[in-house]
Amino acid sequence: MTSEAITVLGLGNLGRALAEAFVRGGHSVSVWNRSASKAAGLAATVADSPAEAVAASELVVVAVLDQQAAQQVLRDVDVRGRAIVNVTSSTPDQARELARWAADNGAEYLQGAVYAVPATIGTDASSIIYSGSSAVVERWQKALVLLGKVKYLDADASRASAYDIAIVAGMYGLLGGFLHAAALARANGIKVAELTPFLLSWLTDLHPALATFAGEIDGASYAGGDSSLAMNQSGLAMLIGATKAQGVPFAALDSLKALVDRQIADGHGEDSLARAVESFAGSSASPAGAG
Ligand SMILES: NC(=O)c1ccc[n+]([C@@H]2O[C@H](COP(=O)([O-])OP(=O)(O)OC[C@H]3O[C@@H](n4cnc5c(N)ncnc54)[C@H](OP(=O)(O)O)[C@@H]3O)[C@@H](O)[C@H]2O)c1
Repeated sequence: MTSEAITVLGLGNLGRALAEAFVRGGHSVSVWNRSASKAAGLAATVADSPAEAVAASELVVVAVLDQQAAQQVLRDVDVRGRAIVNVTSSTPDQARELARWAADNGAEYLQGAVYAVPATIGTDASSIIYSGSSAVVERWQKALVLLGKVKYLDADASRASAYDIAIVAGMYGLLGGFLHAAALARANGIKVAELTPFLLSWLTDLHPALATFAGEIDGASYAGGDSSLAMNQSGLAMLIGATKAQGVPFAALDSLKALVDRQIADGHGEDSLARAVESFAGSSASPAGAG
């Protein structure tokens, strides 16, 4: 057990779970939240201001709603000598800006992206991607591991957020697809709980295809394969017609078909479905860390 001091700014659902994990790990935890009532029952010292909380510890973990809130919370605080670990969701630009502010104000900065829900923080089902100061990861490794698996990328603080927006885009695509599947099931008198095992079984069998597609996209090599653009264009047209006929259209399917249509119009109908990525403006490869 250790009593190293750690500060947590923000006690929403995630921040509270982080603070509890540090307490369980034996740390001496100081917290601040805009609404002080959220600290009730937490075995931590409750500060009256962000400045007071930051003064209490070298490691400062920030988990508030968004990056504007993170900036507001930190704005007038003396952060010299502090290690700021910000797990608030942010865009790459926002992470870069806060990292610059931290450097200008004498602090180390690490941006995190959390892949867990509050209930799984500190379990095997929790991992956090970090980028920014490697010194913070080395110095605070044992504390960070209390939250979940530590996956450090590189020194560019914006990289974790760049991974995060791509991963979260994939997540919402999946969740949107599930909700549409549920609506279609209901429209056909099928209980969603009865459909879901079938859907999960197919998604599980399908998911290795993502690694195949990733290789094709990174190599910009789309010849052959089992899933041609032309076949998928036909399948999407059928699906879009069926969902409209059943009164549950979903614009995301039209958008996906438009990506496919564009590649076929350019003469690539026999190529792999993965080529549809080329229809996204601005998605062509750029040097790692550029921007
Ligand atoms: N929950 C998850 O499963 C999860 C998973 C991964 C990542 N995240 C990310 O983690 C961050 C926090 O999520 P959460 O679930 O903890 O959100 P939440 O439960 O909605 O809590 C939001 C927190 O932000 C504070 N806040 C909002 N605006 C503020 C401001 N202007 N100044 C100071 N504090 C402000 C709130 O304070 P009050 O209590 O005073 O309102 C509260 O502590 C988000 O960026 C979220 O995207 C969450």
